[in-house]
Amino acid sequence: MKNVLISGGSSGIGLELSRHFAKNGYRLLWVAKPAAELDAAKKIIEAEISGVVIETLAKDLTQPEACQEVFDWVKKNDHSLDVLVNNAGFGTYGFCNEVPVKQELNMIELNVVSLYKMTRLFLPEMLEKDAGTVINISSTSSLQPIPRMNTYASTKAFVRHFTLGIQEELRIKNSKVKALTVIPAAINDTPFQQKAKMHKVRTFKGLATTTAKEVADDIWKGFSNGKTLIITGWKMRALQRIRFLMPKWLQDYIIRKETEITS
Ligand SMILES: NC(=O)c1ccc[n+]([C@@H]2O[C@H](COP(=O)([O-])OP(=O)(O)OC[C@H]3O[C@@H](n4cnc5c(N)ncnc54)[C@H](OP(=O)(O)O)[C@@H]3O)[C@@H](O)[C@H]2O)c1
Repeated sequence: MKNVLISGGSSGIGLELSRHFAKNGYRLLWVAKPAAELDAAKKIIEAEISGVVIETLAKDLTQPEACQEVFDWVKKNDHSLDVLVNNAGFGTYGFCNEVPVKQELNMIELNVVSLYKMTRLFLPEMLEKDAGTVINISSTSSLQPIPRMNTYASTKAFVRHFTLGIQEELRIKNSKVKALTVIPAAINDTPFQQKAKMHKVRTFKGLATTTAKEVADDIWKGFSNGKTLIITGWKMRALQRIRFLMPKWLQDYIIRKETEITS
């Protein structure tokens, strides 16, 4: 049985993506913070997909030893990963000098440091087998500076840059291992915006918003076709094509408007 480890697998994109992997015979290894959420999501997927195997570990990935403990858990259960999905992440909203430093440091710890550690822990084994895929979830906010979501966008810029760089290194090594960079647009149906108190931000009701299902469908299609970069959602793909035809002042104006609170 193939194994996929999905951080944040019990919610949003992670849960939708889990459905694809489970239907295609993968064992799901989920890591997320609250055990209750993991248990509830496990029951949902088990009721939907017969024969699915789900193993869960409640872990706060911002804790210093957490990623190593995840690695040890996988090894203790005698599993070898075919796919690692670094999906767990959260955002903050507000001008950089106004958002609590502690909250943003915690976000950097999850979105950047834990993703780096998980990739470093599981990549060597994939290289040794010359097989496997690391899927890292970035964001369209990584494509340019975003006022009021500056630190979040910067964490996602790290994810995009780091993952594209790994893919280039894999190409140089002639490795069959793949690194897939995923760039979702704003999603209107996951708990992400509520958690980040961003639900009134215009971009989540904007023209190019997408859904967790559309993101997961695009990831699955891209993964199955061996793609290394995916912008999810057809509306965002179209927008990114025409973006470069706009003068910079217009791009900046649109982004400023998109990040404002609406009533
Ligand atoms: N929603 C969007 O508009 C959007 C757009 C582009 C990219 N993304 C990215 O997509 C990814 C998934 O987001 P989503 O929209 O699916 O949101 P979500 O439903 O909130 O999923 C995030 C997952 O990460 C887990 N998580 C959060 N903090 C954690 C921690 N300290 N340790 C372990 N797990 C933790 C969450 O579990 P808890 O219950 O513990 O919080 C949850 O399962 C994130 O990386 C996000 O940045 C989202």
